[in-house]
Amino acid sequence: MRRKEFLSAGVAAALVGAKAEAAGARVARRPLPLDPTPQDIRGQFPRLQVETFLNGGGGTPLSAFSQEAIERYLDVARYGTGGERGEWWFGVWDGLRGRFASLIGAQPHEVGLVECTKAGEQLVLDGLPALDAGATVVTNDLHFQGSLHNLEGRRRAGSRVVVVRGDGRRVPTERMLDAIDDRTSLVTVSLVSNVTGHVEDIREISRVAHRHGAVVFADVIQAAGIVPIDVEAMGIDVAACSTYKWLFGIHGAGLLYVAERHQGRTLPDTIWPGGARRLYPPFAESGTPGSLSFTPREDADRYRPGHVNYLGYAAADAGLRFVEAVGVDALLAHTVALNHQIVNGLDRDRFEVLSPHVDRSPILSLAARDLAGVRARLAESGVVVSTGGDRHDLIRISPAIYNDQTDVDRLLEALNG
Ligand SMILES: Cc1ncc(COP(=O)(O)O)c(C=O)c1O
Repeated sequence: MRRKEFLSAGVAAALVGAKAEAAGARVARRPLPLDPTPQDIRGQFPRLQVETFLNGGGGTPLSAFSQEAIERYLDVARYGTGGERGEWWFGVWDGLRGRFASLIGAQPHEVGLVECTKAGEQLVLDGLPALDAGATVVTNDLHFQGSLHNLEGRRRAGSRVVVVRGDGRRVPTERMLDAIDDRTSLVTVSLVSNVTGHVEDIREISRVAHRHGAVVFADVIQAAGIVPIDVEAMGIDVAACSTYKWLFGIHGAGLLYVAERHQGRTLPDTIWPGGARRLYPPFAESGTPGSLSFTPREDADRYRPGHVNYLGYAAADAGLRFVEAVGVDALLAHTVALNHQIVNGLDRDRFEVLSPHVDRSPILSLAARDLAGVRARLAESGVVVSTGGDRHDLIRISPAIYNDQTDVDRLLEALNG
């Protein structure tokens, strides 16, 4: 049933697509069968034919199903009337926010749109009134480096920012808890670290943060679509992600979660609160010059920056349907099984496993003795992983549902070769 829904993506768009086809336009169709085999799924990711791609944590290779959704959107944009374009967008938006909400244990009205993960985090940094009054932000050194850059900038500008340090693999939860006190207004972390795949004990962090009246922001880009998330149970107040990694979308289309209790209260509206109306002539028949009505939106849509990346959300919607059809547990189990095979096949004299949570995280990070040599062998074999980004000796491997044993064998050959 869920797979059927996946296959029937974008009814309004399909109608426009059919019209386009009748007009002789090219409309790609590469459907995934109802009960796809691993080969069918792999076949949806053409990049696997040209390289051994094991870097889902960097960004998904574009899938045929996301491409098709993008092409459907282009058909709508090219051939659809204004009404059809609107119908298409509201159809995608409704489905998308419902699907993302159920993926993370939220309600649809708690889901909004942002450009990317950091834009979601920025909403909180800009919006929390207590931060203006000098309250503290607590984070740790496994948070996303782009966020640390931003927070370091704020620290240099005079804000109180505490960056809890770990050992380069994990940050002990007790250290985070010790850093949170009554001055803390925000705790911001990556739920799954892009550096080592470390998974935060977010429940415990939230429990203590809330006891001190602080808000918890979770960057969930390395978790959404691959690690089970339950924002309620985890005590997450606000979360955000881009969709181009484990949600099989493209860049520039992010998703935001804001718990209902914070909407318009703890977290004020920023740039898209709704639509002010000018209540004075010549805009209205009568009224006091300069007076504006102000009617903020009632749900997380109030945080939308304005017109968004429709193309990106078309891809994200197809990605979310795929995630729903396969299931997060199955997606994670596949990735974890491949990571275990990699760990078991490694030459342990040359590689050290840095990841503390191989059993429940999509990211397997290794420290290499001779990173330059490894890089050369990987390049020669056409194996794509992430190297050296967040640590001088780092190899970050993040297989996904489209990978199989042949990829693991090629990777091990290149690593151990
Ligand atoms: C943990 C984490 N956060 C954030 C990002 C990217 O942020 P954004 O979506 O704002 O581009 C990445 C990308 O690699 C990431 O791994």
